[in-house]
Parts: sequence; structure tokens; C-alpha cells
Amino acid sequence: MKEKSQQGKHYKKQGKKFTKGGKKAEDKTSGLIRLNKYLADAGICSRREADVLIASGAVKVNGKVVTQLGTKVSLSDKVQYGGQTLKREKLRYLLLNKPKGFITTSDDPQNRKTVMSLVEKACEERIYPVGRLDRNTTGLLLFTNDGDLAKKLTHPSHNVKKIYHVVLDKNLTKKDMLSIAQGLQLEDGFIRADTIANVGDGKDKKEVGIELHSGKNHIVRRIFEHLGYKVVKLDRVFFAGLTKKDLPRGKWRFLTPKEVGLLKRI
Ligand code: URA
Repeated sequence: MKEKSQQGKHYKKQGKKFTKGGKKAEDKTSGLIRLNKYLADAGICSRREADVLIASGAVKVNGKVVTQLGTKVSLSDKVQYGGQTLKREKLRYLLLNKPKGFITTSDDPQNRKTVMSLVEKACEERIYPVGRLDRNTTGLLLFTNDGDLAKKLTHPSHNVKKIYHVVLDKNLTKKDMLSIAQGLQLEDGFIRADTIANVGDGKDKKEVGIELHSGKNHIVRRIFEHLGYKVVKLDRVFFAGLTKKDLPRGKWRFLTPKEVGLLKRI
């Protein structure tokens, strides 16, 4: 373990990862990694949240409480949080095309089918869904154990783009389409679609595509219900640059390194 004051000076540029502020989070040449990144990579929380845990004295390295932010650890150091020794896991990123009837939670006291059961054989690491889809919503759901990326993709400030294919119980009027495009006041705030349009040749006015960056719960259903429609089908067809191409319903795939790189640049 290296306390903050010992770092710096002689690192070469190659093989290092930098945080947004330009500070090194990982130095592959020395095998040292910042303690907050270690906690994020172990799937505990984001790096920022890890700083709070560290400062509060909740993290031990080699049996000693460490509160110094910026401390670096190596693979041979024993890092403990919440009474458990953490493993520095391989970071996993996978995309599921969720079928209907599965709830987005890791554990359901009522024993309903959860999305976790669809990806349980994917890897040994403990992955979790990024955001949520309603039980009867289908489409793209990302899973990862990368706490930093998960936080970034769910934070409203990052404006992550999502596109939904919506089937309504009746034709959407031009007036209502316009109100959605201009924005509506819902009980928890103002919401505006980035884009809304009829799907296909536009003859079927019950089917629309809606692009949003809000990640609020039930947001699509709430928009249409506010205007007196029922959502009969809801499918997320685009999430943060990822599409359903070659991903049948109920199946998952790992993201390619290129896709992971693109997500990290959001
Ligand atoms: N909006 C909804 O209403 N439901 C979802 O599952 C996702 C977005």
C-alpha cells in the first residue's frame, strides 16, 4: 500500500489510466491502483462514493483502517469492507434483450422472476442492472460490475439517450404528440421528449418511437397515461449507443471492448 504522499514523480505515461481530473487511477507498470477504484471495480459503489466510505473509516487495508484519500494498493494487499475481503474483479459489461414478465431487481422477496435469472450463467462476477425496466417492458438492459460506469449512465447530468418503441391503446393525436415534444408537467417535474414520431410509414398512429434522456421510473408510461393513453407494449430499442441488432429476445451478449470504450467516453 502507498499513502498519498509517496506517489507521483517517476511514473511513465504508458499503461496508466487517468481520472477525469487527470489523476492516475491505475498504474499498470507498478500494479498500483487507487483504493477508491479498487472498491468500484469490486462492484461496491462508484469511485466518488468509495471516497466517502474510505474517509468514514469503513475500509481496511491489510487489517488497518485507511482514511487517507488517494491511497494506492497493489494486488497483494488485503482490502476489507463491511467485514468482507474484496476481490479485484474483472470488469464485466453485458447487454440483455429483456423479455416480458421479469422484474429488475437482484432479489425479490415475493419470488417473482427476476432479470438476474436471465444472466446468472454469464460470468462469475456479481453484476447488476444499470437502471431498470418495468416488469412488462422489453428491450435493452445493461449489466455490469463497474460501479463508476453504472453511476455515470444513470446520472441525469450525462443525458444518456434511450429510444423506446411504444404501442398505445388508441391513436396518438397530433396535438398530444406536440405536447410531448414541447414538454409536460408531471407530478415529479417537467419532462420533454427529445424526439417523438410515428413508427414505420406513419399509418398506424398507435405506434410511436420516443427518444428521451430521462431515466425516471415508469417515465414513458407516465407521459402517455398523463394524456389519457394506455401503453400496451413498451420496448427499449436503443440505450447509450447500443442497439438490439443480433440480440434476440431473452438473450444477452458481452459488449465488445470498442463498445465499452464508447460508453466510458459518454
Ligand atoms: N419508462 C417506462 O415507463 N417503463 C420502463 O420500463 C422504462 C421507461
